[in-house]
Amino acid sequence: MTKTASPVGKRTRSFQLRVFGCQMNVYDGELMQAAMQKRGWKPTENADEASVFLFHTCSVREQAEERVHGLLGELRRVKKQDPSVVIAVVGCMADREGQALFLREPHVDIVCGSRHFPKIPDMVDQVLGGERRVCQIGEAEIEVDAPERNLVGRIEHYQAHVAVMRGCDLNCTYCIVPSVRGRVESRQPEAIVQEVKLLAQNGVSEVHLLGQTIDAYGRDLPRQDRPELASLLDALETVDGLKRIRLVTLHPSYVDQALADAMARSTKFMRFLPMPIQSGSDQVLKRMKRGYSVAMYRKKVALLRAAMPDLELVSDWIVGFPGETDEDFIASEMAMKEFDFLQSYVFQYSPRPGTTAYEYPDDIPKQQKARRNHRLLALQRELAQQKTPKLVGTHSRLMLEKRSERNPEFWIGRTQNGHYALLPDEAGCVAGLEVPVELADYNGRELLAQREKEFVMPAFDHPQSLPSFSV
Ligand code: SAH
Ligand code: SF4
Ligand code: F3S
Repeated sequence: MTKTASPVGKRTRSFQLRVFGCQMNVYDGELMQAAMQKRGWKPTENADEASVFLFHTCSVREQAEERVHGLLGELRRVKKQDPSVVIAVVGCMADREGQALFLREPHVDIVCGSRHFPKIPDMVDQVLGGERRVCQIGEAEIEVDAPERNLVGRIEHYQAHVAVMRGCDLNCTYCIVPSVRGRVESRQPEAIVQEVKLLAQNGVSEVHLLGQTIDAYGRDLPRQDRPELASLLDALETVDGLKRIRLVTLHPSYVDQALADAMARSTKFMRFLPMPIQSGSDQVLKRMKRGYSVAMYRKKVALLRAAMPDLELVSDWIVGFPGETDEDFIASEMAMKEFDFLQSYVFQYSPRPGTTAYEYPDDIPKQQKARRNHRLLALQRELAQQKTPKLVGTHSRLMLEKRSERNPEFWIGRTQNGHYALLPDEAGCVAGLEVPVELADYNGRELLAQREKEFVMPAFDHPQSLPSFSV
């Protein structure tokens, strides 16, 4: 028989969950939270009240891990005062560090890998039942995703994440993900469609389909009747109430004509696509083992843009990869301009133990990495500022996100291809509402939209005299 946590002071049967890392971790965090709530644990933000502390961690860069170690350090005192609290490290750091985590952080009770988190309530019970140091990492005997999504505790929101595959079968030399997340496991398309339907019935109008290389979806399944991302997009077209599908993240190598056509015919696909290039230098791409050259990336972009001329691309970049010369970096700046990304995430290379690149000398000084980071971000900002005003006079559909904080008489939303726009508030505006709009003007920061049917060109003769709107 298991004991319940003995509340000391104000502690109750509650848990504090802190999530780090990518959107997959956010999604898995929701599933973990639902599993805990189903067992009668309540979520809390209050560390003085919580009896269980769950850290859902990321290992992609050293900084992300150090942050968690810092926060775990703060809990040492709490555990000393109240040994009944349960501390769990879940996710990628658990997989990477394994049992070694108990040596560095002796007050941690549970180390739970990213394929084992559905069992976290059992593990907590094990600790409360007197077991010390529960550790489960690596591949799991059960599927991570339950046949039916448990929506217990889900906060009503128009957006939702849905994992379509887990793991990664590639081996980029800098990346820890394949070793912590394991090999690709695609979910069955029926289960995904069912989950999206359930979410749509619960008010979700925008889903973010998640996978480390989402365009490789299905390739691990038996050849016969093998699903693909293209067929999944087609199947989701019929889901009532669903307005938008975002895909996160594509790998250029898997993009083909069938996928581009499926995206183009889908009325729900958001034409705002993360397809990271990482570097604009062939030498660097080769040492990263990304599996493509800039010329190949160019072909994939051409194929996508031929099918969807208004497609906007998003990229990740790594600066300061071992051996990255000034010329290599300039090639990245040129690629950023050439492919005309709408948005970029720039990361300074961080050597990860166990990866191939860890053996390469980390020879770009920190300051140089920071300078390159800053330069790429500045260039991206400039490019986006040039792109957005060009949409004035065009039509789109706006998905309302929230009321603008600085200008509460406006709603902020994103166009079908990811540009921010403001829409004057009116009766019926709610987050998740899709509104057909004409993009009437640009205030230097966002587009100004007008509802399509009532559109009247506003008297904005002098754009520089417009009030500056911001969210
Ligand atoms: N599967 C995705 C990326 C997942 S990791 C893809 O292949 O595009 C998210 C981002 O973190 C990567 O795109 C990369 O830009 C960055 N990243 C990964 N490992 C890194 C490292 N060791 N140092 C710095 N950035 C890294
Ligand atoms: Fe990492 Fe590369 Fe896999 Fe992305 S594709 S998760 S960068 S190994
Ligand atoms: Fe981080 Fe793991 Fe995601 S390493 S980026 S949380 S897959």
